[in-house]
Amino acid sequence: MSRLVVVSNRVAPIKEGKIAAGGLAVGVYDALRQSGGIWFGWNGEVNKNPQMRTETVGNVDYVTMALNKTDYDQYYRGFSNATLWPIFHYRVDLARYNREEYEGYRRVNAMMVEKLKPLLRPDDTIWIHDYHLIPFAEACRMSGIRNRIGFFLHIPFPAPGIITVIPPHNELLKTLCYYDLVGFQTECDRLAFQDYITREVRGVIERDGSLTAYGRNFHTGVYPIGVVPDNVRQLANSYRERRHLVGYNSDGRRRKTIVSVDRLDYSKGLVERFRAYAAFLENFPEHRRKVEFIQIAPTSRSDVKTYQTIRRQLESEAGHINGRLSDLDWTPLHYLNKSHDRRVLMGLFSRAEVGFVTPLRDGMNLVAKEYVAAQNPDDPGVLILSRFAGAAQELSSALIVNPYDCIGMAEALDRALRMPLAERKDRYEHMMQAIRAADLDTWRDDFLRDLQSFTIHQAVEAEK
Ligand code: F6P
Repeated sequence: MSRLVVVSNRVAPIKEGKIAAGGLAVGVYDALRQSGGIWFGWNGEVNKNPQMRTETVGNVDYVTMALNKTDYDQYYRGFSNATLWPIFHYRVDLARYNREEYEGYRRVNAMMVEKLKPLLRPDDTIWIHDYHLIPFAEACRMSGIRNRIGFFLHIPFPAPGIITVIPPHNELLKTLCYYDLVGFQTECDRLAFQDYITREVRGVIERDGSLTAYGRNFHTGVYPIGVVPDNVRQLANSYRERRHLVGYNSDGRRRKTIVSVDRLDYSKGLVERFRAYAAFLENFPEHRRKVEFIQIAPTSRSDVKTYQTIRRQLESEAGHINGRLSDLDWTPLHYLNKSHDRRVLMGLFSRAEVGFVTPLRDGMNLVAKEYVAAQNPDDPGVLILSRFAGAAQELSSALIVNPYDCIGMAEALDRALRMPLAERKDRYEHMMQAIRAADLDTWRDDFLRDLQSFTIHQAVEAEK
């Protein structure tokens, strides 16, 4: 098998036992550990003289660099997270466009290609991840790199009517056609892309299912990212201090727990979730004092304005709920911005009666899968899941809700907390079947197998 070279915006060197949270980090780490190779990208630092650094852990070389302030502002904070992220999550109202930022985004992609190029061997397989790096393959081809290059989009791909809001949408999406394989989380995302290619730029669907557009032929596929269910369960079981994870009444009886874990992001539907929880306590007062809601939301992209706004909004909502409903011996909502070790999180999931996962839009949402995989099969909890999370395609036995329906979500909380054991087990088993059928190994193996099976682009010369 050829060496694997993974490129993602952020590289998180992971030492054994300390695994960074998040689908991309966990997925990439696992893929690389199996095959060995290079993980190339930004180290999260911003400074004047970005030096390349290599750190080898096991069979993986982590090759990272810092970004200078202009690149960080234009590429990461600007076009990636103030234009692409909101638009790909259908939040056109929160998006802005600035031509200089777009140019910075293209420049940083080209600069990363030039830094990677000397490290490449002719038979390396290159796997690019996520929206920060859409033009990466085009820059590789222009630089004469002939290796197989695949791209996986971790976030949703929006309907053509939404994506055309980006002024250079044509130029940007043309660059996706330079990959040999473009992977999506769900069929819905893949179809939205195919729709764009066929309707917006008059591309063609070939008999083998591949697409031809801008004189280039390439493949698309659906590869839902998953978890390693046995590892999740093991982590959950290994957390011995689990007793401290949940609250008790003054009479010593354990309170029921509702849990959510998200990056603090407006796409996650946190405000709507807090309001639904408040409506649940108002409309179903019999649950008061018997339940508590733990929302863990580590802060993210805190120098982007829209993230500052959502943070303030959440602080106000949380204060409002607790101010209005708390008692001396009961706090209904625990809102924590600290990030937690995965062991603690899985332990918490396994003890919580309800996993409340209600994003307004989400590529996949691995928390939904982790919550289910962490459950005790003899007494599983209930997953409440937004229909707008990619995971809802596979986990149809969750209680599926619409996150814009406040009362509907409040009713789902009541239903989940009352659900009989037989129904909980039945739903759990269905969901576990789906989780096992599309686990993390399947995601990696299917994508890389497909990428290896396609012939490399022949159209490079024509583009020069
Ligand atoms: O899952 C989407 C994603 O943007 C990943 O690409 C990224 O690793 C993660 O969220 C965290 O985002 P950031 O690197 O901006 O903190």
